[in-house]
Amino acid sequence: MDKKALLELSNGLKIELPILNGTVGPGVLNIKDLYRTTGLFTYDPGFVSTASCSSAITFIDGDEGVLKYRGHSIADLAENNNFTAVIYLLLHGELPNLEQHKKFLLKIEKLSKVPEQVVNVIKAFPKTAHPMSILITCFASLSALYHERHGNNVNSEDLDFGISAIAQVPAIVAMIYRHINDQEFINANNELSYSENFLRMMFGDAFDNAKSALFAKALDKIFTLHADHEQNASTAAVRLVGSAGSSLFASLSAGVATLWGPTHGGANEAVINMLKEIEQSGDIDKFIEKAKDDKDPFKLMGFGHRVYKNYDPRARILKNACNEVLGKLEQSSELLKIAKGLEKIALKDEYFVTRKLYPNVDFYSGIIMNAIDIPSNMFTPIFALARTTGWVTQWYEMANDKETKINRPRQLYVGK
Ligand code: CMC
Repeated sequence: MDKKALLELSNGLKIELPILNGTVGPGVLNIKDLYRTTGLFTYDPGFVSTASCSSAITFIDGDEGVLKYRGHSIADLAENNNFTAVIYLLLHGELPNLEQHKKFLLKIEKLSKVPEQVVNVIKAFPKTAHPMSILITCFASLSALYHERHGNNVNSEDLDFGISAIAQVPAIVAMIYRHINDQEFINANNELSYSENFLRMMFGDAFDNAKSALFAKALDKIFTLHADHEQNASTAAVRLVGSAGSSLFASLSAGVATLWGPTHGGANEAVINMLKEIEQSGDIDKFIEKAKDDKDPFKLMGFGHRVYKNYDPRARILKNACNEVLGKLEQSSELLKIAKGLEKIALKDEYFVTRKLYPNVDFYSGIIMNAIDIPSNMFTPIFALARTTGWVTQWYEMANDKETKINRPRQLYVGK
């Protein structure tokens, strides 16, 4: 029997609220008709207790530290599949067989050419610009070319313009990097895998074969781990913009803008800056104390998560990947030592234990990218590159969901 919750108001009005059950996960109280039947809204700043949509793409169990894409565990995907298979999985719902994968790679290749207009946009930026500001503009600029593709004008078969975004974003991010570093752009080499090609467009022939293979494998894993994360802030922004009927590329631009913030994707850049500061000061305890001080706005970057109240499964995989990359490079990293030291202290400290604050995905990813010599201002664009797949997939789901309405929250008015 379907479960219901009974709401009794002080005026004696009683209403029943249905409790919806997903495939797995907690019950969800359906308050869709609450305003119509009672004249009341709900108040939930930051959507702490609010599901804004239903979705069949990604599942998180925050208490158990579980993450699955289309039913596949993130550890299995990161260890046993490459990123293009994961893109296919997210878009189509199933992992590809060999033939499907081959065809999909040809499609990515066909759609990967970045329009000259976008190349000119990148070149117009000052070299001092933050790469995320350029990336926002690149997606906004692509919306000029795909403007007819609005949210009320897509069919689920027509994935090509979404795949164009996924196919072009590695070249766009690499061009942004080379532009701000005053270097010539490098053409794509379609003989290479998605991740190898990205590494080459960033750095040319800077690495020998062994290092290229090691770094491309690590990046591929980073891309897989960042590809989607259900209704996080940037995905919610993409869906919100799309819910008004705006085009995919305009929506993606909003996604990049949201991801840039240091409490979201910008945390990976902030983590490495924090670790470097700790290295300079040589005093981990001081940073732990600052993070615990409620009068100090400082937070331990790369720690805590709205949904995970357990170790973020992505951080666990990335910690192992850090060990692997640095081990193979025969490098000892002071930053990795500091990160592990910080984690050890925090996981025993009452402040972090009682609040269930664990390392998140951004805690270890930057150490790997640092070992590849990727500058920290490129960390968040690389996160955006990977998350483009999630944004595109979620945008299609939103556009094809009969329940989608323009996202229009209400407010508690406290003004004059
Ligand atoms: N350092 C110190 N205290 C923290 C931290 C932290 N990193 N994170 C949360 N807290 C405290 C917070 O002050 C609060 O304490 P109290 O109950 O005494 O007021 C309590 O823990 C609960 O935190 P919250 O702010 O209510 O949690 P939230 O769900 O609103 O925020 C978060 C989640 C990720 C924004 C936050 O943990 C944070 O700012 N972390 C640092 C930034 C970061 O690493 N962000 C990356 C998130 S994962 C990747 C992604 O989203 O892209």
